[in-house]
Amino acid sequence: MGHREEIKVSEEELLLQKHFIEKIRNINLEFEQKHGRKKTMFISTFGCQMNARDSEKLDGMLKEMGYINAQEEKDADFIIYNTCCVRENAENKVYGNLGYLKKAKEKNPELKIALCGCMMQQDIVIETIKKTYKHVDIVFGTFNLYKFPELVYANIETGESIFDIWKEHKEIIEDLPSIRKYPFKASVNIMFGCNNFCSYCIVPYVRGRERSRKSEDILKEIRELVADGVVEVTLLGQNVNSYGKGLDEDIDFARLLRKVNEIEGLERIRFMTSHPKDLSDELIFAMRDCEKICNHIHLPFQAGNNEILKKMNRHYTKEHYLHIIEKIRKEIPDIALTTDIIVGFPGETLEQVEDTVDVVKKARFSGAFTFIYSKRTGTPAAKMEEQVDEETVKKGFNMVLDALNPIILDINKQKVGKTYKVLAEEYDEESKTLKGRLTDNSLVHFSGGERLIGHIIDVKITDCKTFYLIGKVL
Ligand code: 5AD
Ligand code: SF4
Repeated sequence: MGHREEIKVSEEELLLQKHFIEKIRNINLEFEQKHGRKKTMFISTFGCQMNARDSEKLDGMLKEMGYINAQEEKDADFIIYNTCCVRENAENKVYGNLGYLKKAKEKNPELKIALCGCMMQQDIVIETIKKTYKHVDIVFGTFNLYKFPELVYANIETGESIFDIWKEHKEIIEDLPSIRKYPFKASVNIMFGCNNFCSYCIVPYVRGRERSRKSEDILKEIRELVADGVVEVTLLGQNVNSYGKGLDEDIDFARLLRKVNEIEGLERIRFMTSHPKDLSDELIFAMRDCEKICNHIHLPFQAGNNEILKKMNRHYTKEHYLHIIEKIRKEIPDIALTTDIIVGFPGETLEQVEDTVDVVKKARFSGAFTFIYSKRTGTPAAKMEEQVDEETVKKGFNMVLDALNPIILDINKQKVGKTYKVLAEEYDEESKTLKGRLTDNSLVHFSGGERLIGHIIDVKITDCKTFYLIGKVL
């Protein structure tokens, strides 16, 4: 199928969905006239930035349907959970909440409950919902988010629960309405899905194969965001380093970054997540050369032991990972490096965790997400023997944290007394303090007025804790 045809389908689809939005808006207007108030909505988002971005799209569509924000979930007429299945805890929380919502629905039969996101791409989850949580109204997955208006309308029309889960993606739909959480910063999807099949990870099964958006669509979106007041964008993908594969145009991630860097009015560029195996020298050079690219790279290494890395299907060794870091630091000496770590992968001994600790010490991360391995049905690792006992996992987890935290604190201490450019992002009324981020992604709390939000200002660091800096506006 040629490109032209694909684009036509997208536009048609979008028009169709707009038509459903219009119909729902009229229904909601009637409600408003009858009850003297607008219908309210509450979105709960679990998991990663991909989901956060999807929730902005859901937010945009619901607002166009005429819903306004509810203060709390219990007051809402429309509740939606955008779920994650990367680890078991997040799934259990959703089930727990759903149990509670059963009573809420008995009290208010008009309440609509929708579920979407990664968890819904698993057959076992859909079976459980159909059997145990019959009060759920609308269920869809990660591939058909754009169809949300149509599904809501179908539920209103038929009064029946609507399930629409696709096994794979059909096309990338551009231009969905969305509402940004922050007026001054935004996330932009550059690709969807993942082809890596790390053996512990469920993402490739629930988000499908890797596919990149065309660079012109990405650049157009960013230009529009900048015209609308955005100064910082985060380019999102499960594996941004393989951006461009499969596109008709001749492009890769490094070249995309250079193009984004040219957008006038944009101040900061972030991206995540990078896979070490695909990190090219060109990317390092682009980061070095482009002044808008932030001084930070998130580069998950997951585990330090080569045997475990092999079983994880990560396609690099401990030595290769450390070598990449060396190359990055050679070109960009003061770059901040953060990572993801998993402890307790099947068969991992405490001796093997020592290799993880060794990487932590050598790489000197300024931040890390440390996870306890969670068995995900359907992944190869779930079938591996020797799942690690809880006590060993706890010990290993603490070994890693004990190595990480002093280094993070030490890196923070070196910033005390220096002045940095900070994007002011949030204001806390009670303490009259602002929160913002340095270009290296470290968080700083500082005193100042709300009007500074969205501006990049000079902040002098006066003190620090392990997880944030303390500063004052110069
Ligand atoms: N158990 C624990 N952590 C996991 N991650 C992915 N799958 C699992 C799992 N089954 C972590 C990885 C990844 C991050 C987004 O989540 O560290 O980088
Ligand atoms: Fe999961 Fe690995 Fe893909 Fe990341 S790169 S989403 S950890 S399979």
